[in-house]
Amino acid sequence: MTQAPETVFGDDVVAKAQELIGRYPESRSALLPMLHLVQSVQGFVSREGIAFCAEQLGLTEAEVSAVATFYTMYKRRPCGEHLVSVCTNTLCAAMGGDAIYQKLSEHLGVGHNETAGEPGEPGSITLEHAECLAACDLAPVVQVNYEYFDKQTVESAVELVDKLRNGERPKPTRGAELTDFKTAELQLAGFFPEDEERFAADVDGPSAAEETLRGAALAQERGWIAPPMPEEGSRG
Ligand code: FES
Repeated sequence: MTQAPETVFGDDVVAKAQELIGRYPESRSALLPMLHLVQSVQGFVSREGIAFCAEQLGLTEAEVSAVATFYTMYKRRPCGEHLVSVCTNTLCAAMGGDAIYQKLSEHLGVGHNETAGEPGEPGSITLEHAECLAACDLAPVVQVNYEYFDKQTVESAVELVDKLRNGERPKPTRGAELTDFKTAELQLAGFFPEDEERFAADVDGPSAAEETLRGAALAQERGWIAPPMPEEGSRG
């Protein structure tokens, strides 16, 4: 009798995959969260992870690969304990994002999508430069496992990665407490701690910054409201 190959996707992962499938009218719609689930187990999307998704969802491996390789958030090599993303899009770049990326790259001795340290081991860091992280009013921004560290400088970014390498979990400027890449991936797959206190710390948290709300606050103070929508049929 042929022995089934050993897999890292045990019964608990299969149960989660089935739960994900149950959340959608069509099983194939669960592919994006399922790829995050795979990353929460292995820290990247391996060939085995692609085969797992294909089997669970009734897709071909080519279909799963096409999706997994399209989005930059699905990693093709094992990630470090932490993923550090430096925004180098226009505004952040002009405000110092390019200098931050350059310095972190030299300081960690790695380039884009490379890992300092042994992937998955404590203190290991995968570095990436990222497109706009949707926080231009707080430029230049860095994310660790998708949590925001706003208005960074070269010095503060170096201090941040040094703390991560020492096993510390610095507090993000806003949002939830810092966890690690695999835990963040499990949350992105749609699985959260059941314990209320842990949920509040790991997932919840104030996400809006004062700068972001300034326009809304000014409008409220001054009684500004949006003009009404034009009547149906009166649009030019
Ligand atoms: S350009 Fe960096 S957050 Fe938008």
